[in-house]
Amino acid sequence: MNNSLTEKEYSPEWLLEEFVKIYGGEKSSVRIFASPARINIIGEHIDYNGGKVFPACIDRFLYAAIRKRADTKIFYKDVKFPLSFEFDVNDEFSYSKKNDYANYLNGIIVQLKERGFVFDSGFELLLASNIPAGGGISSSSALECGFAFALCQTFGFDLSPVEIAKIGQMSEHRFMNTKCGIMDQFIIATGKKNTAEILDCATLEHQYVPLELGNCCFVVMNTNKVRKLSDSKYNERRSECEKALKILQDEGIKIDSLCDLSPEDWQECKTLIKEENLQKRAEHCVMENQRVLQAADFLKKGDLANLGRLLNESHHSLDAKYEVTGIELNTLAQAARQQEGCLGARMTGAGFGGCAIALVQKDKIEPFIENVQKTYTQKIGYPAGFFACGSGDGVHEVDFSLHLHNGAEKL
Ligand code: GLA
Repeated sequence: MNNSLTEKEYSPEWLLEEFVKIYGGEKSSVRIFASPARINIIGEHIDYNGGKVFPACIDRFLYAAIRKRADTKIFYKDVKFPLSFEFDVNDEFSYSKKNDYANYLNGIIVQLKERGFVFDSGFELLLASNIPAGGGISSSSALECGFAFALCQTFGFDLSPVEIAKIGQMSEHRFMNTKCGIMDQFIIATGKKNTAEILDCATLEHQYVPLELGNCCFVVMNTNKVRKLSDSKYNERRSECEKALKILQDEGIKIDSLCDLSPEDWQECKTLIKEENLQKRAEHCVMENQRVLQAADFLKKGDLANLGRLLNESHHSLDAKYEVTGIELNTLAQAARQQEGCLGARMTGAGFGGCAIALVQKDKIEPFIENVQKTYTQKIGYPAGFFACGSGDGVHEVDFSLHLHNGAEKL
């Protein structure tokens, strides 16, 4: 295996070569599936509060090469990690620390089996990803949904994209002990290139909005502060919101989730929540939900200046009211906003480290990255990672005829 390749150079063609080097056999017997990273343009920490969110798939992918076996064995390998795993498809899977990334995969198998799907053989899998792990652009959901989709296609399981998203989410809840919402898995399972999706997390109704950014694009800024959601305060924030909701419901407010409240309703009932922290969390949810609708309207109208303003407001609320940013994300967002050609910046995903995004004029990207990097490194003591992202499709099988023909997806 050639570990001297940079993450950028992973390509489906390269992965196919590696697969037959490791597992043998013919290239034609192997199928490759792609699963993207996502950014969330706006609507943070409200998917589990019945809110609306506005994510999009980007052009960074996890590739999964897979082939059925004649026996019932399962092999997992990842080109980046030294750990490889062997299981049997008939094993009773449960979480185990020593299983590392294989937990995500076993969690998906458990979900499929629970839905009555039967594996008629084992399989071998090779993974390659250029999505930063623990970086806030959903490396784990890309793995869960990409693997679930690959299994469904390989074994002929009939599962809709929405069910694939739910399987990914349940696997995360049960195997990884993170009570995540549905946003990440949903966009990765259903996303379409050149669009963002408004997803109503209470009903799962969704609408595609063309992602037309004119002379701008999103720059992803990685704090390089890796965090695991299961070790972060993610679950704590979720239970704080549940407490705030229960207080309001016990006082007779007829709502199913915090995001059912309009800003006017909120003004009337907020003092029912006496604990300051809980009040702040709830206020973030109500106002962030409004920003999502406004942001989608601005994007539809091509009003990027106002979209950028909302990104800034969202970050501010996540910092002051939801308290999930921290010095690394705040430094990136503040430094970004000070650059010429930057229309707005905010953290994206769960926070506590991970990534931020900035809406930047394309012809200003180079000085933008250089200047933000300088400020970040001076203040934090190590460099951040940057890339200007394009849009990507949700989970799909790699079509090699297309690939080799125009090389469009070569990373
Ligand atoms: C993580 C979770 C999502 C969502 C975001 C915050 O990415 O997986 O469900 O809650 O954090 O918006």
